[in-house]
Amino acid sequence: MADLSTTFTGIRFENPFLLASAPPTESDANIIRAFEAGWGGVVTKTIGLHPVVNVKGPKTKFLRSEDQGSRISMTKRPGTTVMASWNWELISDKPLEWWLGKLAAIKKAYPKHIIVGSIMAGSGNDKELGNWQTLAKALQNEGADALELNFSCPHMDRVDMGSNVGKDKVLCSVVTQAVKQVSKIPVWVKLTPATANIIEEAEACFRGGADAVVSSNTFPSLPVIDPATLEFEMNVDGYVSSGGLGGPAILPLSLAKMSQLTKEFPDKEFSGVGGIANFDHALNYFLLGCGTVQVCTAAMLDHAIGPNVIKTLTEGMAAFMDTRGFKSLEDFRSTRRDRIVPHSQIKRPDTREYHGGYEDEAVEGYAAAERVGV
Ligand SMILES: Cc1cc2nc3c(=O)[nH]c(=O)nc-3n(C[C@H](O)[C@H](O)[C@H](O)COP(=O)(O)O)c2cc1C
Repeated sequence: MADLSTTFTGIRFENPFLLASAPPTESDANIIRAFEAGWGGVVTKTIGLHPVVNVKGPKTKFLRSEDQGSRISMTKRPGTTVMASWNWELISDKPLEWWLGKLAAIKKAYPKHIIVGSIMAGSGNDKELGNWQTLAKALQNEGADALELNFSCPHMDRVDMGSNVGKDKVLCSVVTQAVKQVSKIPVWVKLTPATANIIEEAEACFRGGADAVVSSNTFPSLPVIDPATLEFEMNVDGYVSSGGLGGPAILPLSLAKMSQLTKEFPDKEFSGVGGIANFDHALNYFLLGCGTVQVCTAAMLDHAIGPNVIKTLTEGMAAFMDTRGFKSLEDFRSTRRDRIVPHSQIKRPDTREYHGGYEDEAVEGYAAAERVGV
């Protein structure tokens, strides 16, 4: 069996596959099940200090498209395929005290499995910077192997939190620096994809001392409207607010963000998240330069923590490495990073081959060639 182990931000992982910060890692019971199932690590559901109350009713639903037809809907029905998750869940509604002791016990029982503590506080004043430090120290004392700073949740009940931090370069740098001052373990930063140029926020985090950047969190989005009732398919008393899209639909979107990052900072460390359900998906992130990857939506749909997903990932990676004779992830990591170039550098056909933009043969989505004057 191929050696799937890898070292990322100085930490040894038995395999490069982690459960992302989300419902699969919201409890000690889930985390234990995840380790038993074979996940190399988990990023805990984001832990904060302020009280959290989620909206009434469902926090996450899954958008399904018809295999034969064009309707997309959150209604679960036969002959459909999941295209995305949509959620407006906040960070952990369990207080920090609930987590303390439990994470330490898990780490003691599973010393080779990696626990990354995801944390979030506010911003804009010294008290909130102190809250980041309190959370960092508490999780570090529990034996967490690394921290992940959540600068990325697209829907927060406070404006000084989540992706609003990730949209502000200065805050990105100041908060990272404050956490680095007290942490003895690596600090990862999870950025929002909802900015014009993610390189700027990543640069600010690295300047603040970040050991790795994680991308992507979910993409801001709305549920669709049911044409029969004219209500949003997810709402409370008829009202909705922007939430986050995850799952298969965001794989290409998240890859685009990741390629910007790995190309700009080829010597830095990155963890890829977004739309991963099997090794082929994960491979994209590795070929772009990521050292680990994380999974949420696919795991939620597989017994809540993804026992079959992790099996598919590890078996897929082992088969891929055996077939190609790779000894470790390093043998193929980043090998497609430099294939992404500015559009102007992509080859054009010569004049003889170019028919004013029309192909000789009809191409999917385009009309057949129009021959002027024929
Ligand atoms: C219901 C739900 C809750 C989430 N909660 C968090 C969270 O607390 N902290 C965080 O950093 N990301 C959170 N995420 C984002 C995921 O960690 C992940 O970045 C995103 O879903 C994309 O990965 P996927 O395509 O595998 O789902 C959440 C996602 C979902 C669907």
